[in-house]
Order: sequence, then structure tokens, then C-alpha cells
Amino acid sequence: MEYSRKKFISFIGKASLGAFIMPQFLTSCGNTTTPATNFNNISKEKLNQLKKIVLENLPPSDKDDLLLANGLNYHTIIKWGDKINNKDTFGFNNDFTCFIPIDNNNPEDGLLWVNHEYVNPLFVSDFDHRKYDKPFEHRTIEQVDQEMYNVGGSIIRIKEENGRWKIVENDPYNRRITGKTPIKLNWDSPIKGVTTVIGTNSNCSGGITPWKTFITCEENYDSCFGETEYDDNNVPTKKPSSLGWEKFYNYPTEHYGWVVEINPKDGTAQKHIALGRFAHECCTLYELADKRVVAYTGDDKNNEHLYKFISSKPSSLKEGTLYVADTINGKWLALDWENQPILKNKFKNQTEVLIRAREAAKLLGATPLNRPEDVEIDPITGNIFVSLTNNKDKNDFHGSILKIEETNGKFDALTFKSSTYKAGGEESGFSCPDNLAFDLSGNLWITSDMSGSSMNKKDKPYMPFKNNSLFVIPRYGKDAGKIIRVASAPKDAELTGPWFSPDGKTLFLSVQHPGEQTKDKNNPTSKWPFDKDNIPKPAVVAITGDLIEKMNKLNIIES
Ligand code: FEO
Ligand code: CA
Ligand code: CA
Repeated sequence: MEYSRKKFISFIGKASLGAFIMPQFLTSCGNTTTPATNFNNISKEKLNQLKKIVLENLPPSDKDDLLLANGLNYHTIIKWGDKINNKDTFGFNNDFTCFIPIDNNNPEDGLLWVNHEYVNPLFVSDFDHRKYDKPFEHRTIEQVDQEMYNVGGSIIRIKEENGRWKIVENDPYNRRITGKTPIKLNWDSPIKGVTTVIGTNSNCSGGITPWKTFITCEENYDSCFGETEYDDNNVPTKKPSSLGWEKFYNYPTEHYGWVVEINPKDGTAQKHIALGRFAHECCTLYELADKRVVAYTGDDKNNEHLYKFISSKPSSLKEGTLYVADTINGKWLALDWENQPILKNKFKNQTEVLIRAREAAKLLGATPLNRPEDVEIDPITGNIFVSLTNNKDKNDFHGSILKIEETNGKFDALTFKSSTYKAGGEESGFSCPDNLAFDLSGNLWITSDMSGSSMNKKDKPYMPFKNNSLFVIPRYGKDAGKIIRVASAPKDAELTGPWFSPDGKTLFLSVQHPGEQTKDKNNPTSKWPFDKDNIPKPAVVAITGDLIEKMNKLNIIES
């Protein structure tokens, strides 16, 4: 990072930007694991073109459609239930997306990973819990199997032809990872007696490794197999899940809540125990000069924490130390059983510390945060940005974006400075920030996640914002630093998983849970994407157009 900073300073000199570079301006592409190093090559002409871009700020809308600002258009690549090959179909509630080209010289042909976060049983397994006083007594194993199939992730080969991305049906790379796929633990000790577990679920956001594999993160795992809770005397009790899968499959909940790595080429997967167990929203990796890795990951729950793992060996997500943030004092605190007496007192060993990371973090004095979600690294400044979605219990309804500046710009530093970069609210025009992505010019794109039950409700503070949206904070020109709405989601939906294609011509985006508030399938609250069968379907879209290409013009990111 120091290297990047130096380069950046010389870039400022060369391009004579002067006051144009202010701390409020961001950058790092959600797609990259290494910061930009080619600032010197930026042409003044391209920079001037970027400064002249006129952005349309879409007004808030409650329309049941995916609305886009001028200069943008979209087509659907794949939706829930579509065939990916002769035996498999695309799962439900697509979230994180990540595109890796098969050949680095051809950005128009590659493998797209898509997370399938959770299911709505009303649509997926035809189970309506509202019909019953004791709904779990009416569940069948077939319904649970359907649900387990529809979570996890998909790998699909996609190609762009004449401006449209299409799945290559039956491509040998196409495959599903589901709630039943066997997955190895990247750890020396078994967990609950095994070293290979069954399935992944609650796959929310993710990341990419420097060695070009997919990362998918298990977030609200307690909704599938419940949670083990401990009282003050360390006595465990089982808290049931909301989906009730544990009534059919006796899989320990300790097998979920991890960061999972997927090999794009063969679909093999592993769970990285060293990164701790909690509701991982995402995992954002940075490769140090000596090839050791630093991984940032947030625990998306009220009053939970921000973590970072620093590896002690090159390219390892096993050997190293997990830290948790004390944002008040600017310290990374080690979840290290061997060297922290307070952890040695409470837990049997390091494996238990990692399984019960939330408790260990609190013992060390970690700062409770307002739902830390996505994390992205600015490729120009190296600052780290963290969405804090909200914390209604603390009257933080609109959330904020936290900025972390590691000491001396070193990602393996154990101290840092933190500050609020942007606060949500009516004045700033956005509420509940969730996914973040930097484009190839260093503009920051943000999606919002107001809950379906609160959106467009007269008695809720979310009314002025209407439907969830996609925003951009331009880095250059007259709108620099402003928060501009460029897309509005269909009814009840959330826009998730923004990811730019390597040539900067496409923004891949998930439209997740349209029509989530539906009570009667025959009368859904949304019909997007307006399929023949008239029910809402989560889908991945490609956003293209003049504006995407112009915004990505600078191409400062080396991938
Ligand atoms: Fe699955 Fe925190 O969003
Ligand atoms: Ca999310
Ligand atoms: Ca979210």
C-alpha cells in the first residue's frame, strides 16, 4: 500500500489535480484484490471526460420495475429456476456475483459465481407457514430438500455477444453448490467430529482471492440449523431455526457461519475456520507484497463486529491470526487463545475461540457496530470502507459508511484511525447502505437494504426513500462526493452483488427477493421480471450502456 500511495502522489503531481483530491473522494474496485499501481498512465483527456459526465439523479420510486438512469439499460442473464444444464437449475435469492474470465485476454467469456442466500418457502417449496398454528408440524422432507437445493451458489459460464450476456447452457463448468454439497474444513481439528461437512447456506456476499477463486460467506446460518447458545456457566442450549431444517437433518449448526472458498474450475469447496464463525456478510482480501493475505469481514448483526485476518504464510487462509476491531481506540485485537489469558480462561482451545468468535470478541473489548456489512478497499488511497446498515435499537435508522485508515497505510498494521465517511438520511438521500463496489475509475457504487417490511410504510422513517436502490458517488467532476441514485428496484426487492466486468462495460447486479411481502401466490406484490407464470423471480441482470462505459473510462485498476 505504501507503494500505491507513493504512486498516487506522483499521479496528483502529473495530472495537476490539486484540491480535486480530497479525503472525501474514494476508490478501490470491488473486483480487485490489489490496489491500482498505474496512476502515472492516466491521461488528462480521459480524466477531463470523466469530469464532464452528467449524471441523472433518479427520483425515489415505488414502481414495480427495475428503473435505470439515462445512459443505462439492462437485460436479464438468468433467473430463479432456469436450467443451467440437464440436471441443475439456478437457485433462489441471488446475492453476491463475481466474474472471472476464462482467458484474461478475453473479457467477454467467463465464469460467473452467484450466491443463493436464502429461500422464501412460499415460492420455493410451496409451504405457507401462515396457514398453521404450529407450522413445523406440517413440514415435509421434500419441502426441506427443495429449500436446501435452492441455497448455496451457482457457477455459470457466460459469454457476451452483440452487447448481450448469455449463459452457455450445458457448459461443463456449469454447476450448483447447494445445502447438501460435501465441503472440507481447512483446519487441522475436526468440528463436531468431522472434517468434511454437508452443505453451505445463507450465502450472502463474498469476494475474490488473489489466486482467482470465489469466496462466498455464510451469513444468517442460524435460520437453517439454529444456534448453540451458552449461559454464564458455559452451559449450552439449542436455539431453534426459523426454517426448521434441523428437524429433518441432524447437521450441527457449528458447521455453518464460515467463509467458504470455491474453485471456479472444478467446484471444489473449503471452509476457512481461521476466519472465525459469525454472520459473515462478506470477505474482502488484500495481498501483501510478500504474498501474505489480509482479509476483512463484517458480522451483520446489531452490535456485532468487524474482523480482519492476517496470514503468517503466503496465500494462506489457515495460518495466521484473526483480529477484531476496537474502533474507539483504533486497535485490532487478536483472537489468539495461546496469548490471551482471558480467552484461555473461557475456551478450551483456539478452535472453540473461532467457533464462538462473537463471545471471544466481546471478552477482548471489541466495539459493537451497527450491522457491519460489505467492506471494500479504495484502490487509490487504500482506505477501507465498511457499510454499517443500521441499528434500529440504537435509533440509527439510516446507517452510515465507516472509513478505516490503517496506520501508515499498512494492511497488516495493528492500529488504525476510523471516521464516518457518509451518514445515511434524508439529507444525503440514501438509507441502509449494504453492498459497495468501486468501478474501474474509482467511483463508489452503493446498494441499499431497507427491509421489505419497513419500505414504503407511512409510519416508518423509510417512506421518503421508496424502493431500495443503487447509488453512485462520483469521484470526479461537479458531482464528486454526491450520492446519486441510478437504479430503483422492483417492489420489495433489494439490489445486491454489484460487480464490474473486467473491461468496465458491464455491471452485473442481482435483483433479490422481489415480491417478498407476498402473502398469496396468486396475488403477488411484484411480478418482476414479468415472466409468463406471473410470479416474482430473483434474477441476475447485466447493466450496460454509455454511462457505465464512461464512468469506467479511467481504468486505473489493474486486475
Ligand atoms: Fe445478507 Fe447482510 O445481507
Ligand atoms: Ca447484504
Ligand atoms: Ca443486507
